[in-house]
Amino acid sequence: MNQKGGVGKTTSTVNISAALAATGARVCVIDLDPQAHATLHLGADLDDDAQSVYDVLTGKCKLADVRQQVGENLWLIPAHLDMVGAELELASAPGRELILRDELADDNFPVDYLFVDCPPSLGLFTLNALTAVQDVFVPLQPHYFSLHGFMRLVETLEVVTRRLNKSLRLSGILLCMCDNTQLGKEVSQDVSAFFAHRDQLPAVCREAVVFDTKIRRNIRLAEAPSHGSPIFGYDPNSSGAEDYRNLAVEIAEKFGMK
Ligand SMILES: Nc1ncnc2c1ncn2[C@@H]1O[C@H](COP(=O)(O)OP(=O)(O)O)[C@@H](O)[C@H]1O
Ligand SMILES: [Mg+2]
Repeated sequence: MNQKGGVGKTTSTVNISAALAATGARVCVIDLDPQAHATLHLGADLDDDAQSVYDVLTGKCKLADVRQQVGENLWLIPAHLDMVGAELELASAPGRELILRDELADDNFPVDYLFVDCPPSLGLFTLNALTAVQDVFVPLQPHYFSLHGFMRLVETLEVVTRRLNKSLRLSGILLCMCDNTQLGKEVSQDVSAFFAHRDQLPAVCREAVVFDTKIRRNIRLAEAPSHGSPIFGYDPNSSGAEDYRNLAVEIAEKFGMK
């Protein structure tokens, strides 16, 4: 998650998931962004009247009814552009922040990893993600303002851990769209320095790691979505494919089932 748009949330969700699936793990992606970018990036194109995660959140169907296989070991709970009005419709539902958590608890589809791609806001869809998961990964773009807004995100996580989900942690910071400029290097040093003073950080982010793997800027990553394929089906030899493959190994080491 990150309430800023364009920082690499969707690109990372799709390509980390595909990379882990390629290692043999069973992976499911939930697209919670009404823009449905992850859904399109994974090659699923929904008809106008198709059901999506929104119908699950509003109680019209179950996760199993909308889940589709989009690759070997890879499944998707799709979003739909029609979800744009859904946050409003959900706003008056009792226990509205907990619907996804409860649906997942009812669902007995076995996966090794479940990734949720959040919209660029701290609204109801993001809250549903935060009550359903344990680990939050935040992609940051190494530019001057990248840590602006970050404390707001941390405050949101603190409220959620206090009231709704005690096991939630900010677990990983991922630097995306890195280049070799001096500014890029300085900002990634700033981010590392920020997490070096752990004792001064709020408890919810005290255990966060800054991933060793940084995602370089690579035009092939920006081209892949229009082909409806993760980077590995589009250009497996690109630097983007290499970076996300390495990141998947790092994630499996640090967060995989022991
Ligand atoms: N490492 C990268 N190099 C080049 N372009 C990238 C990279 N990561 C993401 N992009 C592009 O940047 C844009 C924003 O990325 P996206 O993952 O959609 O961000 P978010 O989901 O946070 O809004 C997209 O057009 C995407 O294709
Ligand atoms: Mg996105």
